[in-house]
Amino acid sequence: MAQEDVFKKLVSHCKEYGFVFPSSEIYDGLGAVYDYGQMGVELKNNIKQYWWQSMVLLHDNIVGIDSAIFMHPTIWKASGHVDAFNDPLIDNRDSKKRYRADVLIEDQIAKYEEKVAKEVAKGAKRFGEAFNEAQFRATNPRVLEHQAKRDALHERYAKAMNAGPDLDELRQIILDEEIVCPISGTKNWTEVRQFNLMFSTEMGSTSEGSMRVYLRPETAQGIFVNYLNVQKTGRMKVPFGIAQIGKAFRNEIVARQFIFRMREFEQMEMQFFVKPGTELEWFKRWKQTRLQWHKALGFGDDHYRFHDHEKLAHYANAATDIEFLMPFGFKEVEGIHSRTNFDLSQHEKYSGKSIKYFDPDTNERYTPFVIETSIGVDRMFLSVMSASYCEEQLPDGETRVVLRLPAALAPVKLAVLPLVKKDGLPEKARAIVDDLKFHFPCQYDEKDSIGKRYRRQDAIGTPYCLTVDHQSLEDNTVTLRDRDSMTQERVAITQLPGIIADRVSITSLLKRLV
Ligand code: GAP
Repeated sequence: MAQEDVFKKLVSHCKEYGFVFPSSEIYDGLGAVYDYGQMGVELKNNIKQYWWQSMVLLHDNIVGIDSAIFMHPTIWKASGHVDAFNDPLIDNRDSKKRYRADVLIEDQIAKYEEKVAKEVAKGAKRFGEAFNEAQFRATNPRVLEHQAKRDALHERYAKAMNAGPDLDELRQIILDEEIVCPISGTKNWTEVRQFNLMFSTEMGSTSEGSMRVYLRPETAQGIFVNYLNVQKTGRMKVPFGIAQIGKAFRNEIVARQFIFRMREFEQMEMQFFVKPGTELEWFKRWKQTRLQWHKALGFGDDHYRFHDHEKLAHYANAATDIEFLMPFGFKEVEGIHSRTNFDLSQHEKYSGKSIKYFDPDTNERYTPFVIETSIGVDRMFLSVMSASYCEEQLPDGETRVVLRLPAALAPVKLAVLPLVKKDGLPEKARAIVDDLKFHFPCQYDEKDSIGKRYRRQDAIGTPYCLTVDHQSLEDNTVTLRDRDSMTQERVAITQLPGIIADRVSITSLLKRLV
């Protein structure tokens, strides 16, 4: 199945089974805003719990906070968001549609890359076993032609972006590449303008007027401005970290790919404060630590790659993205940045207050450097869903849709199913739920045939189904079905917590990290 179709199916599956709904749907929705349903919220909470515990439980030098979404507006001046958190936008005069100029050009670069990939695939098919990809790439005239165009465009684009960006040059690239509006099909483009991504609103209304405040575009600044409060009250010694999970808001112009790019989303960010000069060593360590966190989910190492930034923001001295293989290619899920002491120094300058750290061991006073790990909860959710979604052909010719979620993240861990709705089986099944619900989330289901009930649980990723039958009444045993292998075993009811609880707990994932 084409990856595009897989993605469409995943989106409708998310809706059909209560994972993600378009926001305000009965009013025709609100662009790039989504609600999480009864299954989605559980999965999302499990992802957050996995991240939170991996930070604050496994590291005795990392603590959490929960700062407010509204912050003093000068914070956003100091952080650079007021002046520089912009997207370059261009309008098509015929369709009246607005685009990000950088995205139009990046899509054009991707088109050249696709052309190269197609030629390589054709070559592989033609030459079979004897195919030498490196040699083919180095010699095939069509590959060389597309690659040269791609490289020239990439170089010109990177130069334009690094020059401010140079808005006239971005427009010129769009014209020279003859990029057309996907709606009108014309090249009738306006100038390129900068557009700030922060949402703003007014706070208070007094005779002196109200204050313009922003909905935070990242959670990180709440950590920076509290770092000294935490350091002093928690008696933290550098190196130490502060973790936070919370909502962030960006007025994304090109909002697309479902929950990949949203206007309201959630971030899990951790700022790690280190002694100047040690930051690159810590950056390397955090890269590995975070990759290990992702890989522990068991989707396969080939689903991940680092994308090290060649061109760094002026305040960073190293940066990388962890990219995940989504149905629409490798995409950024998490950023790891060595941000120097930029943010803390800026807050010191704009607030006029000293926020230097005093090192009791060396009697030195300095502004710590910061390594940031920043991951989007929603993007993580999308990566988990897309890696887990599976349509499977069964030996009897039927197909089933199964979400192969890591058991620790699954919304429901165990479904308890009476074989029939009579003979005391429902009562027995309910008694089992009443006992086990203290250990992990269980769901009782008695409607429809047992086969249909298994399919429903497969579709929401429930790792175990337990069937209560007549034998259960006699010997207190049940059949336990494994979601992935579909094998069934007979087990004593008293053994259930011991068999299941460990496998479905977040602890089982955390243990893979140490
Ligand atoms: N404090 C650093 C920071 O915010 P970022 O690369 O802009 O860095 C970090 O964002 C992560 O937040 C991204 O890797 C992504 O997972 C998530 N993210 C950013 N913008 C998003 C959006 N519009 N919708 C969903 N997730 C987003």
